[in-house]
Amino acid sequence: MEHETGGLEEARTSPSAQANDYDSFAEAYSAENENNLVNAYYERPAMLAIADDVTGRRVLDAGCGAGALSAELQARGAVVTGVDISSEMVRLAKRRLGDGTPLHVADLRDRLPFADAAFDDVVASLVLHYLEDWGSALAEFHRILKPGGRLIASVEHPFVAYTISDPRPGYFATTSYSFNWEFGGSTLPMTFWRRPLHSMIDAFTGAGFHLTTISEPQPDPSAREIFPDDFEQLATTPTFLFFVVEVPTS
Ligand SMILES: C[S@@+](CC[C@H](N)C(=O)[O-])C[C@H]1O[C@@H](n2cnc3c(N)ncnc32)[C@H](O)[C@@H]1O
Repeated sequence: MEHETGGLEEARTSPSAQANDYDSFAEAYSAENENNLVNAYYERPAMLAIADDVTGRRVLDAGCGAGALSAELQARGAVVTGVDISSEMVRLAKRRLGDGTPLHVADLRDRLPFADAAFDDVVASLVLHYLEDWGSALAEFHRILKPGGRLIASVEHPFVAYTISDPRPGYFATTSYSFNWEFGGSTLPMTFWRRPLHSMIDAFTGAGFHLTTISEPQPDPSAREIFPDDFEQLATTPTFLFFVVEVPTS
């Protein structure tokens, strides 16, 4: 089973200074993400199913990567804006989505370049686990969402993230974990942050959101024939956790 995308080669516990350099492997990541089991037949369809009817909704794709989810949302009638910390990812998203789609290089830990209540939805696919502290990003999402607006987020499932180190860390502490992804012969150091489930929920409610959904979706059944071995594992093992949280209307 691959981990998000790419192979999980080794686990370490200390953060790496050069980790998460998406600029250096944007093309390779994007190509893999496009048609693989985990992103194309599990994470992305799950986000789209949870988002449901997005016709006419103003959606921010936070950590948009090369824009695959943005494109699907646009095809369903959403008015999409994207941000990503990687300028190379944003370049690829621009190539896919064209000049008509506002796309910005921005760090979710900073103030975002949008007005209050500018969006109906924020989608954040597989990006929050790059952040040690969710507080500032969630505060910004809350600010830029209109009352009743939704944040739909997918993250590494905490029950899995805490198994990726030896010795296993205590579950109740927020800790980083580092590992190498293998893409076409390159070794890419990555560092994620894992936090226990209650800490995720506390972060959402502490930022002023109402929690409406926690979801553990199944992969698209059509993937069973294409990826017979990995499908079975994905369909029986926690991988990502999906949340919908809303800005209260009053
Ligand atoms: C696993 S990729 C997911 C990309 C896309 N959401 C998808 O699901 O296809 C994570 C993305 O988060 C971006 N990212 C990581 N840390 C970020 C931050 N602090 N602010 C904005 N984007 C960030 C990376 O550059 C990368 O494009």
